[in-house]
Amino acid sequence: MENLLITGGAGFIGSNFIRWILKNDENVFVVNLDALTYAGNLENLSDVENSSRYKFVKGDIGDEKLTDELFEKFDFDGVINFAAESHVDRSILNSKPFIDTNVAGTLNLLEAAKRAGKTRFLQISTDEVYGSLGEEGYFTERTPLDPRSPYSASKAAADFLTKAYVNTYGLDARITRCSNNYGPYQFPEKLIPLTILNALEDKPLPIYGDGKNVRDWIYVDDHCEAIYLVYKKGKKGEVYNIGGRSETQNIEVAEKICDILGKPRSLIEFVKDRPGHDRRYAVDCSKIEKELGWKAKHNFDEGLKKTVEWYLSHREWSERARSGEYREYYRKQYLER
Ligand code: NAD
Ligand code: TYD
Repeated sequence: MENLLITGGAGFIGSNFIRWILKNDENVFVVNLDALTYAGNLENLSDVENSSRYKFVKGDIGDEKLTDELFEKFDFDGVINFAAESHVDRSILNSKPFIDTNVAGTLNLLEAAKRAGKTRFLQISTDEVYGSLGEEGYFTERTPLDPRSPYSASKAAADFLTKAYVNTYGLDARITRCSNNYGPYQFPEKLIPLTILNALEDKPLPIYGDGKNVRDWIYVDDHCEAIYLVYKKGKKGEVYNIGGRSETQNIEVAEKICDILGKPRSLIEFVKDRPGHDRRYAVDCSKIEKELGWKAKHNFDEGLKKTVEWYLSHREWSERARSGEYREYYRKQYLER
């Protein structure tokens, strides 16, 4: 049995990954360390919570005492670090938690893994560390890092620290940089779930600026499969880009969602642009395709339909996610700007 520490496993991608790995690899025991911030929800894992190969621990990845205890107790073979503050707009409102978790928290995990000696480490990063593209070109693993939001700057700092631990201490670490994910259990502050839920309630669908910013969308299960491959077969010190080869303008995303739901496109409302809004992300993922034989299985239209269906059949989950702290955030972000 391989003992795996998965951080941020109560969030969107982490919860999908835990479900995916428990189903696809019988030889892993998963410890999920999650602080349960506004984005963490144990309901996301209610179907696996009783598994004998799963244990949840509530805590902060930056808590040295706790991580030392966990490493001592479980003698981890591997760490996959999903835990992060993950939303660009929140990083614009307040960047401090992004440095605490994404930089200092990651550093604490790297230290714990270094001290343990044998632990394999996978840092889950983002294509946003590369900055913004014009109409042409793609991010490759050799593109210089040029982060432009507090979120992407904090993720780039964590990438540099991960590389430093490989070079300086010989840590067996690698990094994945993925494009925009969508799918079940995504917190409804992000474009796709926010648009689906607002459209269902006939509320305005806020689109920043001219709506022509482009993102490369990937269905979350495709990302999970890529992460597993990199964790198992990726080389120490290497970076692997992951993308969906599904470049789409934001306005087209909103239109597609209206069409799937049979809602009028007139719900779309252009609102003030995000400050420093990156224009285009597009990922060249030929390295992982060639070296590890991975390829995204979902095209965007299929994946989007599946996602809309999921939100339609999980209205209570969405209502709970959109209560409490979220209302305050929504007011600041959309109603008072
Ligand atoms: P999310 O916001 O849905 O989940 C983050 C999880 O981390 C939550 O469960 C939260 O409680 C937990 N967390 C936050 N701070 C913590 C701390 N200090 N200690 C322990 N747990 C903490 O995020 P997500 O969208 O699932 O993203 C997961 C990872 O993937 C992040 O590292 C993000 O940068 C990266 N990523 C996300 C995307 C995307 O499109 N969502 C794309 C590429 C990379
Ligand atoms: P988001 O889901 O926040 O992901 P990221 O900023 O990490 O790419 O946003 C995706 C795109 O959608 C981005 O260009 C910003 C835009 N956007 C809107 O136009 N309206 C919205 O309400 C949100 C949340 C995002």
